[in-house]
Order: sequence, then C-alpha cells, then structure tokens
Amino acid sequence: MEAVIIDKLEELEKTQKDFWNISRETGNFLSIIIKTAHIQNALELGTSNGYSGIWLGEALKHTGGHLTTVEFYEKRQSVAQNNFEICGISDVITTVCGSAKHYLEYLDENTTFDFVFIDASKPEYLDYFKLVKPHLRKGAIITADNVISHQQKVQPFIDCIMADSDFQTEILNLPAGLLISVML
Ligand SMILES: C[S@@+](CC[C@H](N)C(=O)[O-])C[C@H]1O[C@@H](n2cnc3c(N)ncnc32)[C@H](O)[C@@H]1O
Repeated sequence: MEAVIIDKLEELEKTQKDFWNISRETGNFLSIIIKTAHIQNALELGTSNGYSGIWLGEALKHTGGHLTTVEFYEKRQSVAQNNFEICGISDVITTVCGSAKHYLEYLDENTTFDFVFIDASKPEYLDYFKLVKPHLRKGAIITADNVISHQQKVQPFIDCIMADSDFQTEILNLPAGLLISVML
C-alpha cells in the first residue's frame, strides 16, 4: 500500500468515532475480499469522509475495478472526494450525493454489481437489500457493517438475507459486526 494512503488512513482513524468509520480490521478484510474475488463493479452505501472508500478504492486499483459510493450529505461527499484525490484513487471512484434508496430505485436495470458494502441508514438495510438484489448475479458478494453493534435496527435485514435461499450468509465477529453473503 502506498505511503500516502497509509498516512491518510492513520489520519482519519483519529476521528473515527466522529465520522462513524469502519474499523481498520474491517477495512483490511473488505480489501482482501475484493482482491481475492477480483471484484470489478463495487457499490458502497454510506461514504462519510471516505475512510472505508479508501480501503475499497485501493483494492479496486489492484483488480482494475470501480467503486460507486453514495452519501446523503454534500459536505461529507466533498470531504471524501478530496480524500480520494489525495490518495490517488479518485480515478476508480464515483461519488454520488443523495439518498441511497433513491439511487437504487432509479438505477438503470442493466447495471450490475459484484460487490456491495452496506453502511448507510441502519433501518433501511432491508430496503437496500431488496432494491440491489435484481442488480446482482451469481457470485456477487454483499457485506454490511454494524450487524452486531446495531443488531436491533438491522434485524429485519439479517432475517431476510439469512432466510433467502439465493444467498449463503455469515456474521463475522469483527468490530461492530460484519455480515458477508454470496449470491448462489
Ligand atoms: C456509518 S457512516 C459510513 C461510514 C463509512 N462507510 C466509513 O466507514 O468510512 C454512514 C453514512 O451514511 C450516510 N447516510 C445515512 N443515511 C443515508 C441515506 N439514506 N442515504 C445515503 N447516505 C446516508 C450518513 O450521512 C453517514 O455519513
């Protein structure tokens, strides 16, 4: 990993709680998954200041892939965009400002993703899952943060994906709890 990226991640870790960023362990795990599965088209819901996006974007540079990341607040989107530029990964990332549900509702029907990271509004996780499912194909990976730390709020999503025979799912005991699922 390039020094500029390591420096930026370390800088953002000092304000991790203020921006609700994922843990370093979770970022590293998502990066390993992207590199192992040679992900090409990734989607993140909930950009914040771009901390997780840096992990995802750095990994996608390796695979030749692309990330679209959606954030409700314009100010956070602009901070994230700046961080991606500093890290030299803005060429593989498209930042979208707006509601994650709205983005998914108006997605072109031919758009597909092979990796999704859900980390926006916790009560909306189930809506995101239902809306993104038609854009996934066999082998696509869904990940979602905070499934232990915010279990009650995301339980309807957990129940739905666990009961869906199109998916094989596990919850990992990473900080905050990470759900990982593969489309069969
Ligand atoms: C947990 S933080 C994301 C942290 C980020 N993934 C990281 O680890 O660096 C959730 C973000 O989602 C955004 N958000 C909340 N509700 C949203 C919605 N309905 N649509 C889009 N973004 C939303 C919040 O503004 C916040 O910045």
